[in-house]
Amino acid sequence: MKIEESYNRLLKNNKEWVSSKLNEDPDYFKKLALGQSPEYLWIGCSDSRVPANEITGTLPGEMFVHRNIANMVVHSDMNLLSVLSYAVEVLKVKHIIVCGHYGCGGVIAAMGNKQFGLIDNWLRHIKDVYRYHHNELDAIKDENERARRFVELNVIEQVHDLGKTSIVQKAWSNNQELHIHGWVYDISEGIIKDLGVTFTCTKDLHSVYHLV
Ligand code: CO
Repeated sequence: MKIEESYNRLLKNNKEWVSSKLNEDPDYFKKLALGQSPEYLWIGCSDSRVPANEITGTLPGEMFVHRNIANMVVHSDMNLLSVLSYAVEVLKVKHIIVCGHYGCGGVIAAMGNKQFGLIDNWLRHIKDVYRYHHNELDAIKDENERARRFVELNVIEQVHDLGKTSIVQKAWSNNQELHIHGWVYDISEGIIKDLGVTFTCTKDLHSVYHLV
């Protein structure tokens, strides 16, 4: 596809989408413009194959979304913290979902030793997860299986990292209903696996992280 075509198709698609939405409901955009009250915050990978709304069957207005390489919750990341704070304190979402995916390029890169440049600084957060779990991961001889488990462990650590934030702990101490979950999406099947690491209150976290 020529470069102009690759660009123009997006604007053309948009016009078609607007017409189809207005066909279904002439007030569709007027209603959406009134405001949002999503029940979910999605923290997912930037990978183009993991579109939050599409794979969960949710519509515009239903999901607040933050995406970065390898769905990381880095507690010095102002972007993540701002999204989290707004989602929890203003929108009062009921669920935060960290969704990783098998075959994640960021996780696979973090498993290796190759230098990639600037992104190495980001990958280092993922390498830390490997170090926490090196006994389990090093014991998996098959590289593909090891990468799959690393993806899962990375999600689990990010759920812990969410729970450690003062934003989430404050919500819990105010008795705000807020559940945080870890998922892995299988790109080759389309299926989401719930890793069963649902945190619903401060006591689900190791006591060293409890803020009082
Ligand atoms: Co990824």
